[in-house]
Amino acid sequence: MIPSSFIHDLLGRVDIVNVIDRHVPLKKAGANYNACCPFHNEKTPSFTVSPTKQFFHCFGCGAHGSPINFLMEYSGMNFVEAVTDLATSVGMQVPVQSMERNRSANLESGLSPIDGEYLEESTTASRQNLDEVMREATQFYREQLKQSEKAVAYLKKRGLSGETAAHFAIGYAPGGWQNLEAVFSGYKSEGSESPLIQAGLVIVTDDGKQYDRFRDRVMFPILGHKGKIIGFGGRVLEQGEPKYLNSPETPIFAKGHELYNLFSARRAIRDAGCVIVVEGYMDVVALYQHGVEYAVAALGTATTAFQIQKLLRQTDEVIFCFDGDVAGNKAAWRAMENSLPYLVDGKNLSFLFLPEGEDPDSYINQFGKEVFEELIKQAIPLSVFLFNGLLKEVDLQASEGRAKLVRDAKPLLKQVTAPVMALMLLKRLAELSGISQNELEDLLQIKPVSSKKSREKAARPRPVSPYHWLIQILLYQPVYINKLDRGLLAVSGELYEELEVLRALVEFLDVHPQVINGTSASSSSIVTYFRDNPYRELLEKIESETLDWDDTIDLEAEFSGALERLQEVQRKKRMTELHNKPLSQLTEREKQELKALAMS
Ligand code: UTP
Ligand code: MN
Repeated sequence: MIPSSFIHDLLGRVDIVNVIDRHVPLKKAGANYNACCPFHNEKTPSFTVSPTKQFFHCFGCGAHGSPINFLMEYSGMNFVEAVTDLATSVGMQVPVQSMERNRSANLESGLSPIDGEYLEESTTASRQNLDEVMREATQFYREQLKQSEKAVAYLKKRGLSGETAAHFAIGYAPGGWQNLEAVFSGYKSEGSESPLIQAGLVIVTDDGKQYDRFRDRVMFPILGHKGKIIGFGGRVLEQGEPKYLNSPETPIFAKGHELYNLFSARRAIRDAGCVIVVEGYMDVVALYQHGVEYAVAALGTATTAFQIQKLLRQTDEVIFCFDGDVAGNKAAWRAMENSLPYLVDGKNLSFLFLPEGEDPDSYINQFGKEVFEELIKQAIPLSVFLFNGLLKEVDLQASEGRAKLVRDAKPLLKQVTAPVMALMLLKRLAELSGISQNELEDLLQIKPVSSKKSREKAARPRPVSPYHWLIQILLYQPVYINKLDRGLLAVSGELYEELEVLRALVEFLDVHPQVINGTSASSSSIVTYFRDNPYRELLEKIESETLDWDDTIDLEAEFSGALERLQEVQRKKRMTELHNKPLSQLTEREKQELKALAMS
């Protein structure tokens, strides 16, 4: 159990902008930061991070929450993992508290503040087992590499230094069919449920025999987005088929989603401002050894849409570097096709083809970093690559050829939603085909690019409901709770959801004064404490409305405005009540009250 006071302290120490920026590069936008939302596909950023209130909100998909929520949703961590991760990053030690105390604390407040959630956390044992198995297997393979002269000789022959091998945790799976069984004797009894099998390290035959998948291969561990080992690529020494054997799809490994070296290269990618996508494990490794640390590789498949999106989240510049052969060109074309729907204006994808017969590994070994980086600058932009590819297939001299060009371009261009890019491609197609842009728009059934309505900041609309308004103010500056007359909330009769939420919020603040006092320039969002609470959704929505509030907002005026509106609402309500009574039944006092109400 993690006490909520710890969560409170923790959230006070971490900065959500740093936490998120590590995974999703943020751009400053006014008082806040924004980015394209990592939780849904979008071309224009609606994911907003508030440094003052320490929460994120996506106006597109509604994702909302604290740094803890972010890590849980983005990295797939559970609650405890996310808290631990954040705590480690600021050098705090997560304390443990007994379940009983925790439960009663929740009952006391009548809410389910954040540690309530922990009660529901179940640790997925099998996943942990898989992580464990992968880690131990990596250790085993690394040990084996040290002991295998021929594997070491092979790597040396390929020019790999010991440091590089260590950096990538490269290992060696020895020959023989049952090595892992001996190493993992503890797992053997678990039969077909064995994590070794689930992790794809051991294969079971139809008649129940088990044997190691990787034998006599150099092993490249693949890290997932949390830095854990999720799979392996294994290369034969010298000749043999298949040259590379990869882990199968497992509960922790989806080939088309992962990129070799992406986890370790994140920093370098940010520093370089670009990422290079190459074809092979050895390409990545060789580039790294020569100081080009921002290369990643797809895992034996064409670069998928998923991988491209992942890369575009990390950087504005993606350079595909493929071998200068037919296969490389094909791989590039597929990557280009898969990228089209995710193109964003301001982000650049380009393609670099190495001389026939070379791959990045061989190239950098011959020419070194400087020449390679010089070459990268000559990568051709996606738009050029696209039309070059199409033009190879047609004869522009003939009308038929130009018609074919338009026909071939249509399915590609239609996928591009980035407005400027779409327009440029269309203009280029018009130029090449001799058909006007307007005619092309008709032919391709592409809507002309509409100019987006400018998002000018109008005067802030005040909420109609005074309860709603008060919630905004309390979420923004909880200290106003001290000025709030609770009698105003004691309305009977029909219940408004917003009134209920306001009451719950007031109650929560009454029980957790430390949340109020901690609130000055930078504090954590109170909504954090309403996880698994029925009011959470409305609170998140209302909190998001305060995202563009800053020092220029006159909170005093807001607060008294809201109170006035509240009194007005209650006055009208009371008047309606009194009016609805037959005059003959009104007491003298009620008549006086009605008069007073009507005059105020
Ligand atoms: P290459 O054949 O270009 O390999 O395959 P490479 O990286 O240049 O390998 P070396 O230099 O001969 O060691 C490129 C990538 O395609 C996948 C691997 O991911 C490899 O790195 N591949 C290749 C497989 O998955 N299986 C194979 O049999 C071959
Ligand atoms: Mn190679």
